[in-house]
Amino acid sequence: SRSLNLAVIPGDGIGDEVVTEGLKVLDAVLAGADVKVGTTTYDLGARRWHATGETLPDTVLDELRGHDAILLGAVGDPGVPSGVLERGLLLKLRFELDHYVNLRPSRLFPGVETPLANPGTIDFVVVREGTEGPYVGNGGALRVGTAQEIANEVSVNTAFGVERVVRDAFARAQARPRKKLTYVHKHNVLVHAGHLWRRTVERVGTEYPDVAVDYLHVDAATIFFVTGPSRFDVIVTDNLFGDILTDLAAAITGGIGLAASGNVNPDRTAPSMFEPVHGSAPDIAGQGIADPTATVLSVAMLLEHLGLTVEASRVVDAVSADLAERGPAKRRTADIGDALAARVAGA
Ligand code: NAD
Ligand code: IPM
Ligand code: MN
Repeated sequence: SRSLNLAVIPGDGIGDEVVTEGLKVLDAVLAGADVKVGTTTYDLGARRWHATGETLPDTVLDELRGHDAILLGAVGDPGVPSGVLERGLLLKLRFELDHYVNLRPSRLFPGVETPLANPGTIDFVVVREGTEGPYVGNGGALRVGTAQEIANEVSVNTAFGVERVVRDAFARAQARPRKKLTYVHKHNVLVHAGHLWRRTVERVGTEYPDVAVDYLHVDAATIFFVTGPSRFDVIVTDNLFGDILTDLAAAITGGIGLAASGNVNPDRTAPSMFEPVHGSAPDIAGQGIADPTATVLSVAMLLEHLGLTVEASRVVDAVSADLAERGPAKRRTADIGDALAARVAGA
């Protein structure tokens, strides 16, 4: 029998609530399989920062490296200065564990309500670069608080970093039936980074002659997300564009409560980390009404990443069946988790 060693970081706000349900479904799907799962929970987030001033101590980071994968809820709290936990915990994890592929699939499941009048079939995946761009933290401010303030946020794009994510996106496009890759940037304005991305896509593309490539400026991409999202198959883009596009992608496929993601280290030099796309939702935290589906689908991505493809499919099928029957009535967090766990157990 196989054993899995998972690290769990519930984090802040609704993180705890949705992770609890994700783990219920994980336990249910693995109960039938010959897989033992051990979890270690880490109390990182606002509470720890208030108590100790720590966001992600090196000792904890080292322990996390020893796990097969990480499940994260959400980070960020209104009582902590904005950026402290987001940068010091979440982005530090993505950077230190080399999560250069931030994988964000979007699928409109049957029966799910969308704000689009003519959605067509929506089934694409955004390969968002995860370790570079404006997220690096390169920049600074001068004369802060004065009328002469200058604030710079530098977008860092390296040939190495762009090539490895572009290569990953081509491989994913090639493995899908439609074999289509759209790269999104803004090379009409951001000429330095934009042209590095363009040249990289063109060069790597010669190795994937069967993949059809097209390009959209990011502003135009947002139009097509709303007017014709069925045109997309695999999208590759930088860290910030990918962040924004994937909240929009969530909105057109049933809402942020359904959007899953994986922070993937394709070289497997460190554990990958799976988390819902949404944040800590302080506006609904503690009420038991957060939708845990995004976390459950992130658990499916975790299973898939660890080679448990049958179990991953069972989780996705359970979600799909549940969504088809859900209807407009609002259900509580635990009720959705229980229903999904029962479905995977009964499958
Ligand atoms: P958010 O995603 O937390 O919330 C946006 C809106 O979506 C809110 O109205 C919220 O109630 C709703 N929502 C989110 N998740 C939901 C769910 N599972 N079910 C139902 N409704 C849900 O984004 P925000 O308000 O911009 O950010 C709040 C905090 O979370 C900030 O501190 C931000 O930095 C942080 N954040 C963290 C992550 C992450 O951990 N990956 C992602 C985004 C934002
Ligand atoms: C996300 C979040 C994060 C991001 C923040 C909280 C750092 O918005 O996971 O989408 O921008 O990547
Ligand atoms: Mn985001």
